[in-house]
Amino acid sequence: MIAEGCGYKLDNIMLSGGVIQRRVSELAAEIEAEYRGREVIVTGVLKGAAIFMSDLVRRVGPSVDIRMDFIAVSSYGNSSASSGAVKIVKDMDTYAEDKNVILVEDIVDTGLTLAYLRDMFTARGPGSFKTCVLLEKPARKKVDTVIDYKGFTIEDVFVVGYGLDYAGRWRHLPDIWGVVPEK
Ligand code: IMP
Repeated sequence: MIAEGCGYKLDNIMLSGGVIQRRVSELAAEIEAEYRGREVIVTGVLKGAAIFMSDLVRRVGPSVDIRMDFIAVSSYGNSSASSGAVKIVKDMDTYAEDKNVILVEDIVDTGLTLAYLRDMFTARGPGSFKTCVLLEKPARKKVDTVIDYKGFTIEDVFVVGYGLDYAGRWRHLPDIWGVVPEK
């Protein structure tokens, strides 16, 4: 298989593309109901949330005035263990002050990234701030974080696909897979 060589291999599909798409539609409906008639800056955390966010916003109807923005934070690099350090590599292009902001993340693992970003965003004085997270892994939680819109709770397995990667690989897969060491 082409993707061999990074020390991990695809093991099993944990969430199929169909299951993911149905849940994304439900989350979009919740967001639409809550923000109807209002403007909201949906802000994705690159790169992991890009695919989730692009599906999500396309399912929210025109009654919500959606603006899109992105931030990028330093990631795990080529390791699957959290360093706990969060560095803003790219900030929002829009001012969050007095605006409604929904931060879109791919996964909450230890919770350190989301906790840091929540503090950073709330310090900017947004009109409102909510978080939308595709996956939560409660087993590895180090800090409590509020997730306002959550896709799925998963067990303690390193997952790839639907935007999530290991060492840059497998983001493009429509399903979410667990990976295991090659040997
Ligand atoms: P946290 O700060 O430990 O919550 O980690 C959040 C970030 O770690 C996510 O945005 C991902 O980039 C990365 N991450 C954590 N677990 C996984 C996983 O199972 N697959 C892919 N990336 C992960």
